[in-house]
Amino acid sequence: MARRVAVLISGRGSNMVSLVEAASGPGFPARIALVLSNRPDAAGLERARAAGIATAVIDHTQHPTRERFEQAMDALLVEHGIEFICLAGFMRVLTDWFVERWTGRMINIHPSLLPLFRGVNTHRRALEEGVLIHGCTVHFVVPELDAGPIIAQAAVPVVPGDTEESLAARILVQEHRLYPQALRMICDGTARLENGRVVFSNDWDAGGALRSPSP
Ligand code: GRF
Repeated sequence: MARRVAVLISGRGSNMVSLVEAASGPGFPARIALVLSNRPDAAGLERARAAGIATAVIDHTQHPTRERFEQAMDALLVEHGIEFICLAGFMRVLTDWFVERWTGRMINIHPSLLPLFRGVNTHRRALEEGVLIHGCTVHFVVPELDAGPIIAQAAVPVVPGDTEESLAARILVQEHRLYPQALRMICDGTARLENGRVVFSNDWDAGGALRSPSP
């Protein structure tokens, strides 16, 4: 039975679209049952509707506290029978309460090779540091920001003349490949969180968890 997944967004939702497309393929162990945004104007909402996916908005500015905002989200997720959450450009920091409620069932995609460059402006910082390999990471969400156990990573080269935009675009291509693979892995049991570590099953395949495309 396909797992019921919610994708949480705040913006354009290109990763959400890649998850929706992957999940609509035959045999995928998840289906996107809900796209939830904290911003009514998130462009991704329209893209989700166009794909026939149920959408909802819980506007954080309409809730007096972070806790109340999260309680409203949690209630909606439960109402929709959601089993796993994918954060995809969701720009609200989550409280320990929410994170702990969804431990092992909530994943995020981050545009760097963690543990390098947690937080924002990852491409700018990668260029400033002069790294030659950069990338993206899918990880389980833990209370500490961008610090969760790693499920899958993809690497890209940094090439002379790169700008934040060119690097972001090169990485986004990999994000769109990596995130569906990671979702598949947690939904079919290939990767699971155990005592704060990711445990991979015997049929773990490097091709699913690591991507290192040639320049
Ligand atoms: C992506 O770069 C993702 O890694 C980061 O936020 C961005 C979201 O882009 N967490 P999109 O909304 O999925 O297009």
